[in-house]
Amino acid sequence: MAEILPPPAHPALFLRAAAGLETERPPVWLMRQAGRILPQYRALRAGFPDFKTFVKTPEAAAEATLQPVDELGVDAAIIFSDILVIPEAMGLDYEMIESKGPRFPKVIENQADVTSLAAGAEAAARLEYVYEALRITRRELAGRVPLIGFAGAPWTIFAYMLEGGGSKTFSKARRMLYTQPALAHNLLQKITDTTIAYLRQQVASGADLLQLFDSWAGELPPAQYRTFAVPYLRQICEALPEAPKTVFAKGAWFALEDIGELPCEVVGLDWNTPPAFARARAGEAKVLQGNLDPCCLYAPPALIEAETREMIRQFGRRHIANLGHGVYPDTPLDGVRVFVETVKSFQWT
Ligand code: CP3
Repeated sequence: MAEILPPPAHPALFLRAAAGLETERPPVWLMRQAGRILPQYRALRAGFPDFKTFVKTPEAAAEATLQPVDELGVDAAIIFSDILVIPEAMGLDYEMIESKGPRFPKVIENQADVTSLAAGAEAAARLEYVYEALRITRRELAGRVPLIGFAGAPWTIFAYMLEGGGSKTFSKARRMLYTQPALAHNLLQKITDTTIAYLRQQVASGADLLQLFDSWAGELPPAQYRTFAVPYLRQICEALPEAPKTVFAKGAWFALEDIGELPCEVVGLDWNTPPAFARARAGEAKVLQGNLDPCCLYAPPALIEAETREMIRQFGRRHIANLGHGVYPDTPLDGVRVFVETVKSFQWT
């Protein structure tokens, strides 16, 4: 006989909040909650020779996705994968160097390199392992909490494809916007076409909401962000009316008016952006997500609790509680728990 689970305490609280509906408290989850912080994750990860093999094993990816839901009681799951699966699917292979980060043995330099990349549905078809992980997770979640799908924003993926990894200055990626703007647009369009096909498949496989991570947004001057980032974010948002969307553009406080005009429901904020500043620029219609400094979670419990409550008060209604960037790998689990529990015990009166 099938096990009968108790009904969820807050069915789809997260989706009600993302739709802009009034909720009794803000929902809470953490960027990068899947992987990194949980001992269960490290144990699971130890069974794989490398990160990529793990990511490409749907059962394991589903398990890593479920761990924070089971262990921390967050209000949403985010599929365990990486933004770099897109360059790989387009034909640009990467390696994940243990405790350092990604490295691309070959980078994009010229028109021939861009021409050689696959794009759109053809490239997205190579990501079947992500779709399978979503299907398994969705089944195992059994409606407990919604499932977030994601992709890197085109500018951030472009930056990785040109730099070959992280960078202090992003000068190779930024340089191309001035020296070869047509080529830059050509590559950004190919990334965008692939991302749209990919996210469509994610929704078809069970993703309830989609988040775009523009991790390197803050590296661009405002005019460049408007020319080389916003139009591609717009294309993606417009192409996916079937699911609510979150745009998280780290460091792009200067672009909040533009982001406020995108057809997305939620705007993610980093910890440098005061909630009132964001509300005034992104507009009344958006739900705001964020933005506690991830370093606050190293503080004593009373301070985490006070800062979290103050954050909720500053945002007011139409807020999804989160950190201002991904949770750091060495964050004490107890700090994470205090953050989650403080939000969950909050009650708007
Ligand atoms: O939010 C989640 O928990 C879902 C899983 C997820 C991962 N990466 C797993 C991962 C998500 C949403 C990402 C997004 C991602 N990946 C971003 C955007 C978010 C951000 O932090 O700005 C970026 C820039 C990357 C690229 C990337 N992947 C880097 C720089 C690194 C190395 C350093 C690190 O740990 O962040 C990764 C590896 C990676 N991606 C790990 C995990 C759990 C760690 C690798 C491991 O466990 O071996």
